Amino acid sequence: MTDPNLHVHHYNPAVDRARAAALAKQRIKRLVDAYAQGRPLFPRAVLEDVDRQLSAAPAVVTIEDFEGVRKEYKLDKSRVRPRKSQYPRGRVKVVWRPAYHSYEQLVHDAEARCGPPYPAPITLGLYVQDVPSYPLRQVASEFEHHRGAWEASGASSTLIAALAAAPVARRITKIVAFGLGSLSRLGCPDTTRAAVTQHCALVAMAAALRDLHGRGVACYAQDPAYTDVDADILARLGVGVVDDPRGFLAVDERTLVFAVSPDVPVKQIVVDGPWPAAMVWNTVLPEARQMREWSPIEGPDGLLVTVSPFCTDPDSLRVRDMVQHYDEAPFHTGRLQWGRLSMYTRRRVSRSARMGGIKASVE
Ligand SMILES: C[S@@+](CC[C@H](N)C(=O)[O-])C[C@H]1O[C@@H](n2cnc3c(N)ncnc32)[C@H](O)[C@@H]1O
Repeated sequence: MTDPNLHVHHYNPAVDRARAAALAKQRIKRLVDAYAQGRPLFPRAVLEDVDRQLSAAPAVVTIEDFEGVRKEYKLDKSRVRPRKSQYPRGRVKVVWRPAYHSYEQLVHDAEARCGPPYPAPITLGLYVQDVPSYPLRQVASEFEHHRGAWEASGASSTLIAALAAAPVARRITKIVAFGLGSLSRLGCPDTTRAAVTQHCALVAMAAALRDLHGRGVACYAQDPAYTDVDADILARLGVGVVDDPRGFLAVDERTLVFAVSPDVPVKQIVVDGPWPAAMVWNTVLPEARQMREWSPIEGPDGLLVTVSPFCTDPDSLRVRDMVQHYDEAPFHTGRLQWGRLSMYTRRRVSRSARMGGIKASVE
């Protein structure tokens, strides 16, 4: 006989899935509406809070999502299976770090049912990093070798001339770089060459600004791929390595932001903070040029997988609006092949607009 006090919960996966999909759809709609009204996806207060919590090495971190709800992450690494590094003397590092989800990932990828089903632009991810461990002498010698490619490229003179000619250049007191890559991946010459030449560009811009206004320019770089040897070499070049999210928190109105194809939505994080004086980053394309289609590609196992049309640092509507307030000049990197980049320099903002808290009004 059935116990009348026993409540039996019937689980119907189809109904459950449908309910979850309906809820996700409502949340996405709320996100789209709030975004259209100007609510930041990556508020500074949330980045500061994540930074504060992570630097205390806690057992649990909580992060506020887009709707003000806190999600809890237990920092437990026990599920990661230990493995050997692919680099000689290398090591495998397992770290918790912030993961950033662009507007496109939250809205379009979620609609295509492969993204997070709720609006959480900032989450916490567990990353397994294979860290190379070549000696300083070897990495420094490779750096010198690839530096020649930068000097011979002609990109240096174009970049410096464009920067020095920008009226805003005199206001720049800091450069913050994102995703320029590790200098220590010595087994991959193309990767190392890109990382070395991009860091040479960073140092060259700092030197040009110093010459222009006769005082030092602070220089920071954020990339989770940096090794201790990278940090050592960069320190000798006057570049301080900062942990995520401190690079984002360092950006202010007197900063030049430099990013080349980062695996993180730098543009969308920057647009939600104080707008920088200048940016050198992947050219912001008009919406009509944005790919919309998911493309099928063959995976390594022969199976077809569909790939999102959105890159890792996509141009949102808000980013396109922001660059309307900057002068844009293409930065051709020629044989260096860094992709399509442009320099954006802020037009003058009127005093009244600044005091009235309006972000961008051009005199
Ligand atoms: C596609 S690679 C580009 C490297 C180099 N800029 C180039 O053009 O070859 C993307 C880089 O973004 C870095 N990256 C990933 N997450 C990041 C984060 N949160 N902050 C800064 N850089 C990040 C990766 O470690 C990697 O070095």
